[in-house]
Amino acid sequence: MDERRDLIVGNWKMHATHLEAIQKIQKLSYRLRPEDFERVEVVVAPPFTALRAAQLVIETDHLPIRLGAQNVHWEDQGAFTGEVSAPMLAKLAVTHVIVGHSERRTLFAETDTIVNRKLKAVIRHGMRPILCVGETLEEREVGSTEEVVVRMVRDGLAGIPPEAVAATAIAYEPVWAIGTGHHADPDDAGAVAELIRGTIRARVGEVADQIRILYGGSVNPGNIKGFMAKRHIDGALVGGASLDPDTFAAVVRYWV
Ligand code: 13P
Repeated sequence: MDERRDLIVGNWKMHATHLEAIQKIQKLSYRLRPEDFERVEVVVAPPFTALRAAQLVIETDHLPIRLGAQNVHWEDQGAFTGEVSAPMLAKLAVTHVIVGHSERRTLFAETDTIVNRKLKAVIRHGMRPILCVGETLEEREVGSTEEVVVRMVRDGLAGIPPEAVAATAIAYEPVWAIGTGHHADPDDAGAVAELIRGTIRARVGEVADQIRILYGGSVNPGNIKGFMAKRHIDGALVGGASLDPDTFAAVVRYWV
């Protein structure tokens, strides 16, 4: 039985000042209805500098939109110039934290070990990690998609107890599909999602059925439905199409 509620997350990346964030969140809220939120858990992940403003507008206007962060440091505090910790995010009512995005892995040298430490910090502070995994074009072309994805899932979740694994979402984002306009074939993405669930089931058992698996990579209002129709895909991690509230609302309302 499929009891997993849809999870659609807008990853704004390095876009939007705190003032623009307020506007975007308010516009998004006008375009969504109570039934959308019943069906879909909606998360927006603005840059760190907009989190406080976003928290205030969400609380003041009683919006059912949840707040996500795009990154976190693994220590709670200390001499880590420029970093932001999990307790700082938790205090801002952040509920979800994206961990191990391919841009962080590629541009900021995040390894599976670092990703695993970050995941543990997020869980320690009562938030939900969104662990990003996915193969590059080169890895896909030599046929190592499965191997890469299984390794990232296994190493990312290493040492995390089953009940905490249940709180984690996995985002399958093929690197070649991110920001390119070339989304994956939904059948292929569905097969990788099934592989991810199977990998997690082998480690923690039936808890794996509670985990939400998202697809990410050039998702838009025109292609979201095809991904959501797949048994093991429970949501989407949306980049470019999440920046415009009308477009993002259309992604969230894919089921209407
Ligand atoms: P795009 O939707 O812009 O391809 O970005 C996907 C992504 O990286 C979301 O985290």
